Amino acid sequence: MKNFVIPVHATSGSYEVKVGSGLLPTLGSEMKSLGLSGRCVVVSGENVFPIYGQTVLKSLREAGFRTDSVAFPAGENTKSLERYGELMNFLTKKQLSRSDCLVALGGGVTGDLTGFAAATYQRGIRFVQVPTTLLAAVDSSVGGKTAINLPAAKNQVGAFYQPRLVLCDTDTLKTLPEREKRAGLAEVIKMAVLADPDLFDLLQRLDPSIPPDALPEAIEACVRMKAEIVEEDERDLGKRRLLNLGHSFGHAVEQKSGYALLHGEAVAVGIAMACRAAAHLGMLDEGSLAAIIELLQRFGLPTETEYSAEDLFSILLLDKKIADGKMHLVLPKSIGWCEIVPVSRDELRHLLAAACGEEA
Ligand SMILES: NC(=O)c1ccc[n+]([C@@H]2O[C@H](COP(=O)([O-])OP(=O)(O)OC[C@H]3O[C@@H](n4cnc5c(N)ncnc54)[C@H](O)[C@@H]3O)[C@@H](O)[C@H]2O)c1
Ligand SMILES: [Zn+2]
Repeated sequence: MKNFVIPVHATSGSYEVKVGSGLLPTLGSEMKSLGLSGRCVVVSGENVFPIYGQTVLKSLREAGFRTDSVAFPAGENTKSLERYGELMNFLTKKQLSRSDCLVALGGGVTGDLTGFAAATYQRGIRFVQVPTTLLAAVDSSVGGKTAINLPAAKNQVGAFYQPRLVLCDTDTLKTLPEREKRAGLAEVIKMAVLADPDLFDLLQRLDPSIPPDALPEAIEACVRMKAEIVEEDERDLGKRRLLNLGHSFGHAVEQKSGYALLHGEAVAVGIAMACRAAAHLGMLDEGSLAAIIELLQRFGLPTETEYSAEDLFSILLLDKKIADGKMHLVLPKSIGWCEIVPVSRDELRHLLAAACGEEA
């Protein structure tokens, strides 16, 4: 896979997303060249740290950093107030100061928790994202959204806080379990439906058993698109909300499943639901609806939910995408074009029924 560098120009500063093979041992020198120094705490997960932790620590030490590390249990439940508190206490115990930094080594869960910790520890310390899942590489590590969950609502507590660098060594994707790879592909399909018909074509032609390093074009297309959108609308007030395609319905399904569904799997269900809702409104033609659902299913992703519209409705009412009493749904008009559609509470209930396949 070829290596590539994509700059992200955020209001709080610009940084680069570096993606490619063999990058992990360069982390320390990359960080040093950005002017980072002092102490560095590597925050990771219990699955990831045993595989990649030592390479990262060695690279940091060789670049002159004094290192510490902490690994949390794998899974969405780690994005909790409790784990956040533990991490804050750990950083305090280690006497980390504002001139020190954090490294998030892992998937979106590690990235979101570490990013939020970086945003709030002593009112903000510098941090670097080292994504090791396809989902984190194409989506969560870029753009500065950080958050933890409350029992009643996902990503309810968070901050916009940009990393100083995103460094993704695509070799790390080789150890990713199949189910996680497929979940990451849901976000790639999201990007394609959102704004990139060429990417959609590319995915349609891909062998469904593809190793992620056969996906260089897809990863690059997604990071470029995300960088562009974030530059235009860092704070999620306009265009960036389009990235929520499949996420309003998806988060509700994810939460209802008690996080038994992976985020990417829930997003796949959410995309299918958004497409059915759009078709119900006459926005999306039946052919495009079928093509999108077929693509999701080709990669083994779920497209149906076992939950009823009523079950999901109450969860949806807590969604952050509600403004002025209206829910702002992202609905596709065609493959590569989506729109934000404000719907009232009653319309939402009705559309949800269509999205769940409960009415024709
Ligand atoms: N901040 C954002 O903009 C944003 C965007 C999308 C998703 N997210 C968040 O990201 C999270 C999902 O992220 P995810 O899909 O990366 O899940 P994840 O972080 O839970 O990682 C998936 C699993 O793979 C394991 N793993 C990670 N890298 C591995 C590797 N290289 N080899 C072997 N195992 C590995 C992890 O231990 C975990 O069990 C959700 O909480 C979601 O809300 C955030
Ligand atoms: Zn997502």
